[in-house]
Amino acid sequence: MTRKIAIAGATGNVGREILNILHERKFPADEVIALASPNSVGKKVSYGNQTLSVKSLEDFDFKDTKIALFSPGGKISAIHAPRAGKAGCVVIDNTSHFRMDKNVPLIVPEVNPLAIVDYKKSNIIANPNCSTIQMVVALKPLHEIAKIKRIVVATYQAVSGAGKEAMDELYNSTKKIYENQNLEPKKFSKRIAFNVIPQIDAFMEDGVTKEEWKMKVETKKILDPNIEVEATCVRVPVFNAHSEAINVEFEKPISVEQAKKALGNAQGVILIDNPQDMKFITPIEASAKDPVFVSRVRKDSSVKNGLSLWVVADNLKKGAALNAVQIAEILVKDYGL
Ligand SMILES: NC(=O)c1ccc[n+]([C@@H]2O[C@H](COP(=O)([O-])OP(=O)(O)OC[C@H]3O[C@@H](n4cnc5c(N)ncnc54)[C@H](OP(=O)(O)O)[C@@H]3O)[C@@H](O)[C@H]2O)c1
Repeated sequence: MTRKIAIAGATGNVGREILNILHERKFPADEVIALASPNSVGKKVSYGNQTLSVKSLEDFDFKDTKIALFSPGGKISAIHAPRAGKAGCVVIDNTSHFRMDKNVPLIVPEVNPLAIVDYKKSNIIANPNCSTIQMVVALKPLHEIAKIKRIVVATYQAVSGAGKEAMDELYNSTKKIYENQNLEPKKFSKRIAFNVIPQIDAFMEDGVTKEEWKMKVETKKILDPNIEVEATCVRVPVFNAHSEAINVEFEKPISVEQAKKALGNAQGVILIDNPQDMKFITPIEASAKDPVFVSRVRKDSSVKNGLSLWVVADNLKKGAALNAVQIAEILVKDYGL
């Protein structure tokens, strides 16, 4: 049996990272197909030492493809992921389009791996939002000890989360400032260089942004429907890796020592927490690394049972590509795909 897999959105930030990670983790694929928009047909992308020639997603036949990892944007996934699923291919989709669909499991392997079985309903599995993934990986071990009631989170999100053009905009806008000029923002609503923007994705009627709403509903779907989440999502002039300041209120008491011990033993988490020696994580240090890093675990004395923590992860890796590849590995290992 040959295992053919496809990457839709292979020329993008997430797609390129998926190709790197598949190679790095020696994913057992016999053939890897790179797909993107018709504009990219014939362009080359790297897969280990190989160079793949990009094909068009539009007319690609998924009949013999076992698994497809999608990141071509929500509107494109909405059309082609169900088409691939109907052809018998299992799609792991990075866009937000299917995440809240009740027939589509929303998976973080360290948190709810058993829910993968529900892929059989639609042949689609959704990868959560980057900010949600790193938060639930860090909070799962604490939820197991003391049951989380409420989360208040402020994010500091890197521009790579908005795609490759957004990274260019930060670079060009920073350069222009040194030349005493201004660059009209295109990918962002305001200037991103030397600024922070409290808006990621569209505003909804109640004043909450779509990104903030996603953190709320996705956390409930993945971790526990009883957890209340209040989020403020902010874009910062950092190229890669998202940071989060999180306040958590628990049902039962949990000490800082208990929390640190659980985080130190948790799958996919690295605890770096010794402020006296300046040991804490920043996005530059977390970029290009796999784990979710946790620092500054401390008591939140504004509530009865509270902790505060700082969580940083590479949004293109654990926040997108790595999480998707981990799901694909489970499909191979546990479901014989
Ligand atoms: N970046 C993150 O941290 C992150 C995390 C989680 C989820 N996501 C989601 O993943 C998706 C992609 O993000 P990204 O950062 O990789 O964006 P990106 O760098 O802008 O890349 C977009 C990709 O989609 C492809 N594409 C665009 N229109 C297409 C079409 N009509 N048919 C086929 N392919 C098409 C592009 O191909 P061309 O080069 O041919 O245009 C490119 O490969 C988004 O929905 C995003 O929300 C991103």
